[in-house]
Formats: sequence, structure tokens, C-alpha cells
Amino acid sequence: MNAPHSASAPTPARTVRKAVVPAAGLGTRFLPATKATPKEMLPVVDKPAIQYVVEEAAAAGLDDVLMVTGRHKRAIEDHFDNAFELEQALAAKGDSVRLDAVRDPARLADIHHIRQRDPLGLGHAVLCARNHVGDQPFAVLLGDDLIDPRETLLSRMLDVRDRHEGSVVALMEVDPSQIHLYGCAAVEPTGEDGVVRVTGLVEKPSPENAPSNYAVIGRYVLEPGVFDVLERTPPGRGGEIQLTDALQELAGRGTVHGVVFRGRRYDTGDKADYLRTVVRLACERPDLGPEFVAWLKEFVAGLTEAERSGRERFAA
Ligand code: UTP
Repeated sequence: MNAPHSASAPTPARTVRKAVVPAAGLGTRFLPATKATPKEMLPVVDKPAIQYVVEEAAAAGLDDVLMVTGRHKRAIEDHFDNAFELEQALAAKGDSVRLDAVRDPARLADIHHIRQRDPLGLGHAVLCARNHVGDQPFAVLLGDDLIDPRETLLSRMLDVRDRHEGSVVALMEVDPSQIHLYGCAAVEPTGEDGVVRVTGLVEKPSPENAPSNYAVIGRYVLEPGVFDVLERTPPGRGGEIQLTDALQELAGRGTVHGVVFRGRRYDTGDKADYLRTVVRLACERPDLGPEFVAWLKEFVAGLTEAERSGRERFAA
């Protein structure tokens, strides 16, 4: 029998150590910016989006990160590598703050890269991680999906995996009119607050065919059995090998749980959401926030005033 944990007992080691970060999509929604740069490298204030994602994995205790990269592989590899000449130049100037900022990405975790030669879909990108991951459960964090750094979503998902085994997806309630943009989960309660059993999944359903308004967002903890399922998953919606289709099979076996997330999450692959992310995170930065917020208030007041006088002119 297991002894109960006392308050002073160390936290048990997690069974999940590895994270996979798919970043090989075409990023067509963000063209032309993504013509020669992966969307995951677009700056959110002064760090590329993918750095926030790797920081999140590291904060949850995942110390091995595999990037699945596509045609822009160099930009991502270089960002998470040492930059010898730049580091030397900053060291010579005694600029230790910027030197740390340059060194930080490579120190976050043990970082590996693998190439997805053709962007055949998210399911295919995950399958590319098979050899690296082996037969252990692993996390998947989409490289363009940002969860606010103060949230603990990934740790909650890892806890659920440790208690229930199987796979865990992150779910967010969205307006029914938006569900066609996401994978959607059919769920039933577990009796545990914020944790549901996923009974089915469908990729980007029309509102009439959606089993719920629970959208699957870009965090997953997957059982290694998903690889066998992905191997025989045919191209689905959009001609791509969909992770959702493989998860649908696992859900049919009763091995998928969902963790309901009610915090802040941004899809930086979407232009409007990208702009919201940058403004919000800039406002909250102690070094930039005060000056930026003051400007923003003035800017918005100017817009409001222009709108009001436009309405008055129209009414006259
Ligand atoms: P998205 O569907 O958002 O990526 O994939 P996309 O296809 O690049 O975007 P648009 O619609 O053309 O703008 C979600 C995540 O899966 C990765 C993407 O890089 C993103 O992080 N992905 C997608 C791959 O790694 N490989 C793929 O074949 C497809």
C-alpha cells in the first residue's frame, strides 16, 4: 500500500519528461510575413512566440523539448542555440542584461530538432516525433498557441495524466459560432471540477454538427499508443493527417480526459489575436507598460472622439 504524502514529502517525479512542439505549418493566415519566417518566430513584444511556449514546458518540469520544424528550420534552430559572435560582442560591451536574454533560450531545456519534410498535417508532425519520444507519454504544445505565463494549465494536465493514465486534451468553451475553427469534443462529467471524460472528437464541425462548444486548444498530453493510430490515420479534413482523428479513436477506447481551461490563451497564428497578444503583454511589462498604457489611452480617446464627432456630423 502507498503511504499517504505528508505535507513535507517531495513532489513525486512526473512520468512525462518530453515535450514536442510542432512548428512546421505553412502559416498561410499570416502571409506575407511568414514567407521566409515561421509564424512561431514572430515577435510577441521582444521574444518569438515559440520561446514563450518552450518556457511554459520548462516551467511545468519538461526538460526535453523536440521542435518539429519545416522549411524555415534554421531560424528556430538558431534561436535555441548559442550565438557565439553576438555573445562575444555583448560580453565585450559588458551588456550582461542583453547577454542573458540571448543565452536564455538555449538554457531552457535540452532542445532537439526534427524535420517534417512536407506539411502533411498536425497528426503527421506529431508522428515525426515517434523515434525521439519512444514508449513514454509526452506533451505536445503548439508553437503558435500562447497560454498566459501565469496560468498552470500544463501542470494540471500532467497531474490528470498521472492520475488517470491515457491522454489528456485542453478544452476551452467558445461561442458556438466559433466552434468551426477548432477541434470539438463530446464530453461527459467525471465528478471532478474542471476535468471531463472525452467521448468523441470532431475536427472543425459546423455549429449544427458540433457535439458541444468545447474547443480543443493547443496543449495535449499523449499516450505513446497514439503513434500506432497516427500511422494508419488517413488524410482527413483539408487533406491533412489530423491529430483530432487519431484522438477520436483513443476517445472511443475511453482513454481521453479533458482539462477545462478558463484562463487567457492567444492564437498568435491569427492576425487579430496576434495583435491582442502583443498589446496585452506589452501593457503588463514593467519596463514598457506604464509608457505604453499612457499612449494607448490617448490613442483610444482619440479614436472615441473621432467616432463621436463623425456620428454628430452624420446626424447633422
Ligand atoms: P495550424 O493549422 O495553425 O498551422 O497548425 P498552419 O497550417 O501553419 O496555419 P495556417 O492556417 O496556414 O495559417 C497548428 C500547429 O501545427 C503545426 C503548425 O506549425 C502550428 O504550430 N503544424 C501544422 C505542423 O507542424 N505541421 C503541419 O503539417 C501542420
